[in-house]
This record gives sequence, C-alpha cells and structure tokens, in this order.
Amino acid sequence: MSLNAFIQSIPKAELHMHLEGAIEPALMLELADRNGVSLPWQSEAQIKEAYRFTDLQSFLDLFYQGCKLLITREDFHDLTRAYYQRAHRDGIVHAEVFLSLQSHLTRGIALDTILDGVLSAIDDAARTDQISGGLLIGIQRHRPEDDAIALLERLHPWRDRIAGFGLGGAERGNPPAKFARFFARCKELGYRTTAHAGEEGPAEYVRDTVHILKVHRIDHGNAAMNDPELVRELAASKIPFTVCPLSNLKLNVVASLESHPLRAMLEAGLHVTVNSDDPAFFGGYLNENLIACADALELDVNHLHRLAHNSLTAAFMPAAQRDSHL
Ligand code: ADE
Ligand code: ZN
Repeated sequence: MSLNAFIQSIPKAELHMHLEGAIEPALMLELADRNGVSLPWQSEAQIKEAYRFTDLQSFLDLFYQGCKLLITREDFHDLTRAYYQRAHRDGIVHAEVFLSLQSHLTRGIALDTILDGVLSAIDDAARTDQISGGLLIGIQRHRPEDDAIALLERLHPWRDRIAGFGLGGAERGNPPAKFARFFARCKELGYRTTAHAGEEGPAEYVRDTVHILKVHRIDHGNAAMNDPELVRELAASKIPFTVCPLSNLKLNVVASLESHPLRAMLEAGLHVTVNSDDPAFFGGYLNENLIACADALELDVNHLHRLAHNSLTAAFMPAAQRDSHL
C-alpha cells in the first residue's frame, strides 16, 4: 500500500480546524450572491490570488471578511456540512471544529441561527456518514475577557452540545494570562479547554497557557521547542498538541516544511497531532497536510500511525467511542 493510501485509510480525528476557514472560494461566491454581499473579487481565481499572507494578522483580516458572508441558518449548515463531507472522504472518523461565535454575534446574527445551522450539520454527518463531531467555541483573544465570560454564561442552555472552549486570534500582544478568569470559569463549569499558543508567540506563552490556563490541549505549540526544559515537562504530562503544518508554512511561522518542527516534536515524545487549521485558505485539508509532511520530513508508516493514534486519544470524546476506532 502506498503511503498516500495508508494516510487515506487509517482512522483518524481532526481536532483543530476553524469552520470559517473552510469557506472554499466557490462557496464564498455562492454566499455573496445568496446574501447580496459585495466582494472585492469576481472569480475563484481572483480569490485564490488574494490568499498570500505575510503573517497571522494578514490572514485574520481576510478570515474576518469571510465571516461576514455567513448570515442565515442555511449558510452555517452548508459550510459545516461541506467540511464534514470532505472530512469523511479523507477517512476522518471524528472532527472537532472551532466556531468564531463572537465574529457573528457582533454582526447581529442570532445565537440560535448560528448554533442551529452548525449543530444540525454535525448531526447530519453523524447520521449519514457515521462521522462524529464536536463543537468548540473559539474565543478571540483580541476581545475583552469579560465578553468571553458573558458568552460562556449565555451558552449554558447548549452545554450538552459543546465539546469545549478554545482561544484563538491575534496571539502577539494578547498573552494567555489575559484569559485566566475565563479559563477558571470554564473549569468550574466542567468544560474541556484548549488554546492557541506558541504559533507566533514565544515559548513562555505555551508555558503560561499550560500553567495558568490549565488547558487540556495546546493548539500549535511550535515555540515550545525553543525551551528544552518545557519540552521535557510537556512530554511527561502527555498534553496533546494540535499542529498545523501547511498553516504554519502559509503564515510564515516556518520558512519551509522541511524546517517544520513536527518530526522533532514527535521524537521529543510530545503528544503531537496534525490538523488543517483553515483548509480553504492554506491549500490543504488534513490528508494533504499529512502527505506534505511525510514528503518533506521523511515520515514513515510508524510516524503516521502514531499521529493518527494520537489524534484519537487526544479527542474530547467518550473513551468507549474512542476505543472503537483504535
Ligand atoms: N483563527 C483562525 N485561524 C487561526 C490561527 N491559525 N491562529 C489563530 N487564530 C486563528
Ligand atoms: Zn487555529
């Protein structure tokens, strides 16, 4: 069996992708047309041409622009359904997806409309394709902590449908400690948590994310590799890392895939998983990330097996369900 066929066939989970980062250019044009929103681009080719980023902020500017196309329940449903169909074709058996709720609520879209659209698509995926899903609410770190806490309380009626809370957005200038009270409240309410750390920020942000926010997973975490003592601690604790190689390449977090720390992270004993982050913007879904890394970093079947196994054991899902895939 070829390595690509192995990657396709092995059961795996995706744990770090942003739904709004899965708006493909064709869907972007369709949503703009459907909702009468004007776009600065007329064709898929022009949209793809615009996807040249210098850093995280240059990408986030476009990401937030794309968010404005999502207005109706059907929009949120169609976007989510399209992602899960693609994930199913890639051999993903479980996918946890971030939703940037604040970007939609602040535009006046009703909470019911958004959650109904996303959750009904997650249910459709489970029923039709037997792929399980989890909704992660992605808090944006450039916004005030009090807004995040207010949203957390407002989401109480949906608590059984929320797999966890995350923290994303502009990392530089928004250190983890800014959200200490928010994560403490998540813990009190019994939610699983994760946070972006060490994507553009330093190793210290990864350490503070673990020590102060006490998250269950770290999203990205690349910068931890600059601190050997921290790496030893995180390897011993087995905290999962959701690494996003093609994202890192497109946002200039790494100069090349060959210099990506993924393989070194695995070899240091970290609980690493591979994920697509914002697949429509970064040129690849999960399997394309795995294939590109296998090629650039000379990963073999054992590495790929480890990555798939790690993804399932790091998922926020019941042990019995997880064990059925291992
Ligand atoms: N939101 C969407 N993609 C993100 C990323 N790569 N980092 C931080 N926030 C994000
Ligand atoms: Zn992300």
